[in-house]
Amino acid sequence: MSVEIDDSTAFITGANGGLGLEFTRQLLERGGRRVYAADVAGRPSEDPRVVPLEVDVTDRSSIARAAAVAGDVDLVINNAGITVREPLSVQDLAIVRRIFDVNFFGAVDVVQEFAPVLARNGGGALVDVCSIMSWNARSGAYSAAKAALWSATNSFRIELAPQGTHVMGLYLTYTRTPLTVALDQSRMNDPADVVTAALDGLARGDHEVLADDETRAFKAGLSGPVDALYPELAPTV
Ligand SMILES: NC(=O)c1ccc[n+]([C@@H]2O[C@H](COP(=O)([O-])OP(=O)(O)OC[C@H]3O[C@@H](n4cnc5c(N)ncnc54)[C@H](OP(=O)(O)O)[C@@H]3O)[C@@H](O)[C@H]2O)c1
Repeated sequence: MSVEIDDSTAFITGANGGLGLEFTRQLLERGGRRVYAADVAGRPSEDPRVVPLEVDVTDRSSIARAAAVAGDVDLVINNAGITVREPLSVQDLAIVRRIFDVNFFGAVDVVQEFAPVLARNGGGALVDVCSIMSWNARSGAYSAAKAALWSATNSFRIELAPQGTHVMGLYLTYTRTPLTVALDQSRMNDPADVVTAALDGLARGDHEVLADDETRAFKAGLSGPVDALYPELAPTV
């Protein structure tokens, strides 16, 4: 089902991060009517089409307040996310839970609060910003939470189809944003390219957008043996 982006009214979490700002910019450039830009601080914008909302995705009541205010939303983008570096096998469980609270339960809370809004507005669309790490387990708790979000996205797609909501998952490898600023990666996506791929895919009615070659190659490898995905598992002689 193709999605009309021009004239859309979007709600974006983590709206002032690298991808969030880019989603806002490109949606408005493509004719979006309004963006409810949700972040923890409710940072103001000079653009009258951008309505700041104070939303901490770990606080369900703040999401519910946003859903009450943003009753005209027909596009929800679950974009807020945090990451960690330590291996899951030694990670402090309080941090593991925090990663799940933001990256998984926060996104589920947003869907539970906003699905009725989307239904009232004709169905609309939901985009979950997942990751190559939904499939690549090298990022510990972050990978686990993004894998859970991948699964939840597939559930939402089936569950919300009867109300006419199109659900799309976005998958990408390392991208130049504040989230990755401390990483030493030679090649990173440009956030503008990722968002262009996402919005083009949404307009076409894609169920998934894999934004770069590395992500496409990793997903293609899932049907093969696990040690082909993780060469470090190869036996040493
Ligand atoms: N960059 C990459 O390489 C990459 C790759 C794959 C997937 N992703 C995913 O892309 C999404 C956007 O990330 P990004 O790269 O744009 O990172 P970013 O610049 O750090 O943006 C993340 C945003 O999430 C917000 N956020 C964090 N905790 C929150 C909470 N409890 N409630 C509401 N908002 C919260 C942050 O707000 P504050 O700044 O106010 O804390 C920030 O605006 C994330 O889901 C990330 O996992 C990124």
